[in-house]
Amino acid sequence: AENHRESLMIVSSFAAQFFQRSMWDTDEGKSIGLSYFRERAFTPEVMRKFELGYSPDQWEAFTGEAIKSGYQEQYLEETGLSVKRDNGTLYDRYRGRVMFPIHSFTGRVIAFGGRTLKSDKNVPKYVNSPESEIYHKSNVLYGLYFAKRSIREQDNCYLVEGYADVLSVHQAGIENVVASSGTSLTVEQIRLIGRLTQNITILYDGDAAGIKASLRGLDLILEEGLNVKVVLFPDGDDPDSYVRKVGASAFKQYIEHNKKDFIPYKTSILLKDAGSDPLRRAEVIREVVESIARIPDSIKASVFIRECSHQMQIEERVLLTELNKMRLARS
Ligand code: GTP
Ligand code: MN
Ligand code: MN
Ligand code: MN
Ligand code: MN
Repeated sequence: AENHRESLMIVSSFAAQFFQRSMWDTDEGKSIGLSYFRERAFTPEVMRKFELGYSPDQWEAFTGEAIKSGYQEQYLEETGLSVKRDNGTLYDRYRGRVMFPIHSFTGRVIAFGGRTLKSDKNVPKYVNSPESEIYHKSNVLYGLYFAKRSIREQDNCYLVEGYADVLSVHQAGIENVVASSGTSLTVEQIRLIGRLTQNITILYDGDAAGIKASLRGLDLILEEGLNVKVVLFPDGDDPDSYVRKVGASAFKQYIEHNKKDFIPYKTSILLKDAGSDPLRRAEVIREVVESIARIPDSIKASVFIRECSHQMQIEERVLLTELNKMRLARS
């Protein structure tokens, strides 16, 4: 089984090198892939570090090269790098896309995300590797290998939505950043971070989907016993677009000034919807207490109840009664 996994990783590493050569050393790669990344203002250093590449816009460029180099079809298919036709022959899964290799905790390439360069709505923006023996997407965080040292040093992990967000934030000098790419945040991913730090700061996109995902992520993180803060970006911006707009130092200031503890964050988001309707405002309080009820450490939970009581001008006793009801309901 270990030999099998090793073979899959060797094929994946060969593919990462192939996609890099295709980007840096071919006319098509330079004029399409490399210039795309340049337009997005990624530096060559970051492109090399994250091993970004380009898949030629042909049906068998990669598969042909891999077979010529002696790689077995079985491994090409299992990694999802090649796909089998009805007649049994293989073709390239990634064609004419810019390539983001996904690394394991120890830095081995285990999967890919490929972004289309077309704006055609019928073409999926990102194509990701399928699950395989070396890639279980719910257990993987994009960028973790490059972030882990900084996560320990800073005792905090920034969590973003996408590949480009990781690259741009990293490039801005904030290296403790990862993305839960290809899936919404999972418990396994939170536990991975939990081995390095107890503190997570969510930097999701400033759109309805990002806000919704942040509320869900926040509850999961609290349930795992970690601390969570959230930064909301202006509507329509994600960390990548925002840092490109304002520059690295203004970006860092924005994070410092706008990061909110989960209670004020959740309250402000929900109150916006509730308006002045007293019943709906009461519901907001209940929802916040519901998040607090997820915290396994009851002493910590009671500290947050006190905070909530001050912020919302509700008697602590009333909130505690609610909290205990919810905890009973949950256990
Ligand atoms: P850019 O346009 O390159 O900046 O991408 P983005 O990361 O800002 O994209 P978006 O906010 O739409 O999506 C966030 C993340 O969700 C991406 O980085 C991908 O990991 C994933 N994602 C987005 N679109 C797709 C898709 O069509 N298919 C799949 N499987 N994943 C996607
Ligand atoms: Mn096996
Ligand atoms: Mn989005
Ligand atoms: Mn985005
Ligand atoms: Mn983006």
